[in-house]
Amino acid sequence: MSPFAVTRTLPADATAAALRSDVQRGLTATPKQLPPKWFYDARGSELFEEITRLPEYYPTRAEREILIDRATDIAAASSARTLVELGSGSSEKTRHLLDALTGLRTYAPVDVSESALTLAGRALLEERPGLTVHALVADFQHGLELPESPGPRLVAFLGGTLGNLLPAERAAFLGSVREFLSPGDALLLGTDLVKDEATLVAAYDDAAGVTAAFNKNVLSVLDRELGADFDPDAFDHVAVWDADHEWIEMRLRARTALTAKIPALDLAVTFAAGEELRTEISAKFRQETVRAELAAAGLSLRHWWTDAAGRFALSLAFPED
Ligand code: SAH
Ligand code: TRP
Repeated sequence: MSPFAVTRTLPADATAAALRSDVQRGLTATPKQLPPKWFYDARGSELFEEITRLPEYYPTRAEREILIDRATDIAAASSARTLVELGSGSSEKTRHLLDALTGLRTYAPVDVSESALTLAGRALLEERPGLTVHALVADFQHGLELPESPGPRLVAFLGGTLGNLLPAERAAFLGSVREFLSPGDALLLGTDLVKDEATLVAAYDDAAGVTAAFNKNVLSVLDRELGADFDPDAFDHVAVWDADHEWIEMRLRARTALTAKIPALDLAVTFAAGEELRTEISAKFRQETVRAELAAAGLSLRHWWTDAAGRFALSLAFPED
């Protein structure tokens, strides 16, 4: 195998078909909604990287702090020869793990964003010529298959991305992760924690408006891919804390009554003034809920580490026999 390979498990037309059916279903539902993976075209991935550097967006810094403090413990507990990372994005924080995992042979980043994978893979190869990087353009929620690689394997799912899935989707996802873990493999999971509402809302509604631009970018994706005529500026970015579900909900709110045409679907979508489209949730966790969700999937929580301020947690879990 060459030291850097990109594999697509989905042909481009399967992605196009999935986008069509998600948009058709989501925009004709009440309330209107879209699944979050369509945020991440090249521009969306760039905007997300900008979010990670915002003063209000603490999760990236908090998770990096834990990774720096605990990388040696993670390496000792996992002895991983392969690191698989789901939703790897820029792989920027992952460098702390790559440094600590001394027996590592293969790094397999998995993401729907081919541009993010290619940028990250090229940079890593320059830095670490000895490492085999096998990037996978794939949807981690649907029929994920991993490349053959030496065990033990450590599967990392960082950035709080688990919280972007609905509870039933989280259960299905964790169950599928459990299925491809063998005895001795481990899951490293990053989850943002419940905290005061003001801190949470600011992280998803920053003063510079980067998160607003990120949220609206999903409309630009529909315009480009489906020939739609959404005007992103006709919508306001909304981030609200849902205290019952303990999640942040991101929405796009139509400023006026409007109709958007989506020629590829032969669909016209009507919004009332003030009508909202749900684009993303970001669930916040407690130790007991993480432990319980892992256990329900047959995974046993062995380590729980937080940053000094207690904002974010990394869990290390192993398959139960
Ligand atoms: N792990 C990085 C990036 C988090 S952003 C960090 O912690 O900073 C979430 C990442 O998951 C994005 O790169 C996005 O493209 C990817 N992603 C979102 N939904 C996905 C899906 N269903 N399958 C694969 N990747 C997905
Ligand atoms: N996993 C990230 C999170 O939940 C994704 C994210 C950050 C995000 N900011 C966002 C998603 C804004 C949609 C909109 O924190």
